[in-house]
Amino acid sequence: MGKPALAVTTAPPAVSLQHVNKSFGMGNTYLSVLKDISLEVRRGELLLLVGPSGCGKTTLLSVMAGILDVDDGVVDVFGTRMDKLSQSGKTRFRQESVGFIFQQFNLIPTLTATENVAVPLIIAGRPYRAALERARHYLSLVGLGDCLERFPTQLSGGQQQRVAIARALVSEPRLVVCDEPTASLDGATGQLIMEIFRNVALSAERAIVVVTHDNRIFPYGDRLAEMLDGRIVGIHDNPDHVK
Ligand SMILES: Nc1ncnc2c1ncn2[C@@H]1O[C@H](COP(=O)(O)OP(=O)(O)OP(=O)(O)O)[C@@H](O)[C@H]1O
Ligand SMILES: [Mg+2]
Repeated sequence: MGKPALAVTTAPPAVSLQHVNKSFGMGNTYLSVLKDISLEVRRGELLLLVGPSGCGKTTLLSVMAGILDVDDGVVDVFGTRMDKLSQSGKTRFRQESVGFIFQQFNLIPTLTATENVAVPLIIAGRPYRAALERARHYLSLVGLGDCLERFPTQLSGGQQQRVAIARALVSEPRLVVCDEPTASLDGATGQLIMEIFRNVALSAERAIVVVTHDNRIFPYGDRLAEMLDGRIVGIHDNPDHVK
């Protein structure tokens, strides 16, 4: 079972979206994907995000992570207005504060597991050997201590996903956003990952948002936000979460 929420109720939220709209241009037409979304992620919270395929979950995560710009509305992440930052400001903010686990794992095929996980640290200017050392530690945490020198093609789908999870956590980001982190994992490994999220990547000053279809991991969430056709249609305290 998950640890109790660490949220301090008086603190400002970790993420605050207010009246966010996002559309994609499609030739002469455009597709409205996020429709007047207002949502807060609390500090110390692990928020689950559920909804049918195509409803806008990945788009919403990308907006929170500063990967996609919004058409209008407020995107505040730990007090930084993402909707007002320049592109370089957003890149810097992402490097320092956000860990993103994508639906596709986006591993670099020519690098070993350890090197893949070390990439964010090396980009941030950490010395190479220290970055590798830290990468090995995070790979051990996700149960891949015996796969350190393997290349992505030498790993199963679930193992590749765990490399991507280690890479997202290695910089100790304040906000972790995960797109279906347990989709390729068996039940026991999925639970291990959720326990790592709660024990390693969550504190009163951090937050995690997890998109999932996997009801086995529902007990690890503090609240569950329900999305339908570009809108948040419900936010529920997680009835399965044992506090
Ligand atoms: N770059 C893009 N250009 C045009 N349309 C896009 C783009 N990205 C997403 N869309 C469309 O926006 C809608 C929402 O996509 P999104 O990827 O956010 O859905 P999702 O809820 O994550 O779905 P899934 O559960 O299948 O991953 C879909 O109709 C999709 O086709
Ligand atoms: Mg998606």
